Amino acid sequence: MDLRLAPMAGVTNAPFRLVCREAGAGLLTSEEIDARALVEGNARTQLIARYLPEERPIAFQLLGGDPDVLAEAARRLEAAGADAIDLNMGCPVAKIVAKGQGAALMRDPLRAAVVLRTLRKAVDVPFTIKIRSGWDERTVNAVEIARIAEGEGVDAITVHPRTRSQQYTGHAPWAVIHEVVAAVSVPVVGNGDVRSHADACDLIAATGCAAVMIGRGALGAPWIFTGESVDRDARAAIIRRHCALIEAHLPPRDALVQVKKHLAWYSAGLAGSARLRTALFQADAAAAVQEIFWGSW
Ligand SMILES: Cc1cc2nc3c(=O)[nH]c(=O)nc-3n(C[C@H](O)[C@H](O)[C@H](O)COP(=O)(O)O)c2cc1C
Repeated sequence: MDLRLAPMAGVTNAPFRLVCREAGAGLLTSEEIDARALVEGNARTQLIARYLPEERPIAFQLLGGDPDVLAEAARRLEAAGADAIDLNMGCPVAKIVAKGQGAALMRDPLRAAVVLRTLRKAVDVPFTIKIRSGWDERTVNAVEIARIAEGEGVDAITVHPRTRSQQYTGHAPWAVIHEVVAAVSVPVVGNGDVRSHADACDLIAATGCAAVMIGRGALGAPWIFTGESVDRDARAAIIRRHCALIEAHLPPRDALVQVKKHLAWYSAGLAGSARLRTALFQADAAAAVQEIFWGSW
């Protein structure tokens, strides 16, 4: 089964992506990268765009609204080794959609077509998009956008079937994924509420999607990609590897934040996990955070 890690801002950086790949994840995707910030040489954005050679194949996801800026950012990422370029057409954040980016692109199919055409011409590597079901429940237009995308030469479409208004609440209506699968002949990647290998099988059976993308279900559980039950010792080894990668590849301040965040997710289900999480967030060095975590493991 082709299981992929979903892009998640602030989470799916190189260490977490590599841990998921080692557990069996297919094509990886970077977290969203602001196209304009990348083109303008923003240091933080350049850090986000870094990857480890073992991560390949890896797709880089761009966030933006200006076709020329997006095209320039895509060319740079392709030159840096991207195996695919993905366009974010689903980000629901107010300040992003206010700039006509993310999910706002789905509201304006004509503008979306221009963006897709320009990006398609800019790169030779596969070009994919990630969409929602639409802006709100009155404007569910995933099929319309998918048909436009196919016409513009997009190679694959990931569908997270919530509307922008739904953000991350409610259930993701998988039927929308099936409608997109039926409407286009390019591969469709299904996404939304997959929390286990069995859920992934159900999603494929229900929609006919070619691959499954997992987001929140991989937080604190990268072993979801193995498709097998992973015992306590094997889980501990994966967590230790993840922490080591964070410390080796992220600047110290980011490493501290990431070790806290991920160990808090890994602590779900441990006895006294609420108290443990508070203690993790109070610690002021990555080594101390890990010591507290292993003391409760
Ligand atoms: C913390 C967080 C950050 C996210 N960041 C991105 C992002 O950068 N790009 C994107 O396309 N989707 C982003 N998403 C959406 C996920 O990729 C995915 O579509 C959504 O969480 C539904 O899948 P899930 O139910 O498997 O989590 C994010 C989701 C979360 C929870």
